[in-house]
Parts: sequence; C-alpha cells; structure tokens
Amino acid sequence: INTIGVLTSGGDAPGMNATIRAVVRTALSKGKKVVGIKRGYNGLISGDIHEMGSKDVSDIIQRGGTILHTARCLEFIKPEGQKRGAEMCKVFGIDGLVVIGGDGSFKGAEKLAGLGINTIGVPGTIDLDIACTDYTIGFDTAVNTAMEAIDKVRDTSTSHERCSVVEVMGRDAGYIALWCGITNGAEAVLLPEKKNMSQEELIRMIIENRNKGKRHNLIINAEGSSEDSVKLAKKIEEVTGISTRATILGHLQRGGSPSAVDRMHASMMGSIAVDLLCEGKSNRVVAYKEGQYLDYDINEALAMQKSISEKRYDLSKILSI
Ligand code: F6P
Repeated sequence: INTIGVLTSGGDAPGMNATIRAVVRTALSKGKKVVGIKRGYNGLISGDIHEMGSKDVSDIIQRGGTILHTARCLEFIKPEGQKRGAEMCKVFGIDGLVVIGGDGSFKGAEKLAGLGINTIGVPGTIDLDIACTDYTIGFDTAVNTAMEAIDKVRDTSTSHERCSVVEVMGRDAGYIALWCGITNGAEAVLLPEKKNMSQEELIRMIIENRNKGKRHNLIINAEGSSEDSVKLAKKIEEVTGISTRATILGHLQRGGSPSAVDRMHASMMGSIAVDLLCEGKSNRVVAYKEGQYLDYDINEALAMQKSISEKRYDLSKILSI
C-alpha cells in the first residue's frame, strides 16, 4: 500500500473527525501518503481528492461533523458509478481506502473491493445499527445529547403536569430510544423492533398514572416506530384531557463535540483500519465486540442480524411503573 484514501459517507456522526485524524496520522507514521476524499462517494467519482498532512487534522478531534463533508451518493449504488469510483482511485494512485459510515457505505466499499481497491469499513453512525459491532462511532455522543435534551423537556413537562412525546432518531433501529427510555426514566418507549403498546393501552396507562398521582408522563418514540409523534400527542390530549406536547429532537442529535468514548473508539478504529490495509487486508469492517477490536469480512458483516437487548427492554418497562 502506498496511498491511503479516506472518506466519510452517509449521515455524519460525532467522532468522524477523530477517526479521520487517526487514519491520517497512523498512515503518515507508516510512511504512507494520505488523501482525503470530499463528500463521500460523490467526491470519489468527481475526483474531489486532496493530499492530507498531519496539520490538516490538527484541532479536529474535539469537533462534531466531518471536515471531509459527507453525502448519500445515489450514483454509487449503480455499477457504472462504482466503476467510475474505482477508476478514479487508480488515477490518484489510491490503493487502500478507509470508508467511515454505515451499512449503506459498506456496500459501496464491498463493490470497490471487488473492483480491485483494498477497502476497510469503519462503523460511524449514531444509530448503532451495524450488526457486527457492539459499538458505532457517534452513538455515545448522540444518546447523551438526546438524554440531556429530554431532561430539559421533562423539567417543563413536570411544571405544567403535561404529557410529553419525544421523538428520537435511529432510522429503523430503536437503540437511541431504548437508551433514553431507561436513562431518562420514561413511562413508555416505542421501538421499531417491538410490538409496542397500542394507543388505547398508552392512554389507559397515562390515566392510571394520573390516578396514582404521577405529575407527568414521558413517552419516547423512536422515529422508526409506527406512531407519528404529533398525531399521537394530539390523540392523547383529546382523550385524556391532559395537555400533551410532541418534541422531535431531530438533527441536533447528530452534532456536537464527541464524548471521550467516541473519541477513543474513533481513534482506535481509524488506526486499526490503516493497520489492516498495511497488512494487505481488504473488504473488512472494523468492529468492537465484548471489549475487543476485531474485523469481519464485509459480506459476512452485512449478513449479520442485530437485535434489541430483551433485558434492557424489560428493564425499561419494570422501571416505568
Ligand atoms: O443514520 C443517521 C440518521 O440521523 C438517522 O437516525 C436518520 O433517520 C437519518 O440519518 C436522517 O437523515 P438525513 O440527515 O438525511 O435527514
């Protein structure tokens, strides 16, 4: 390996910058040339590729977002786009590529590997929805951001003796929602992975809670659940007469300075990705499982299934009484 390229792809996540820094500095320490590719696979196709030195990644470990920018590239889903990407790698002499992103980004990396470019995926997404790893870069910061925001909603909800429906991100996964459900002490959590309480059951719970003397109700709704937060809040207010508000936390969950946990995993995983390339490996994803850093074949990783912890889900219910 002579030249290592690095790109961020899909939704950004706090800790992506720390990963880029680790890739660049580890590669430089091994005497490799490093290039940064802007806007994910879009920049690969268009040749928006720039050499990076150590100084280019100074003062970024603490920053949210990604200095390389990111995008979801539709063109790269098609074989023609993938071929153009591989050709551009050859034009710039990129013989090793680190792709920081989620499952969609890894599918692209797998295609490039098939076209002769050594590629390594690093899991970067706030959603925690990558099956081969217990940890994805950005999750810890995002869940803490959501938790702190929900604490604030809870203060005002309690003062007004209201019910709050708070929607958190996660796409089709309920990890952020479940973590917030437990760490914010929610009365109910609605997840895409579970058969949730029906509207009637929720409403009955809220009325029973009022009769028990509870001053507020907090319902965490994962964006991928079947409930629309605004409609649900309206329905609860209509039937119970309890003032109810919906809050959709949205993109604030994707920003902010990465936590120490995210910076540590980002630094380790970025550096391991470069080690793997230098060992001649390709088509691998870096993972963290049961306290160990590992790597998996991308195809195998993409075929794995992940499920919500039953213990944590049960706990969210036990503690909500
Ligand atoms: O994958 C990260 C994520 O923030 C999801 O939680 C969410 O569904 C999606 O990205 C939002 O995407 P966009 O930034 O394109 O609105």
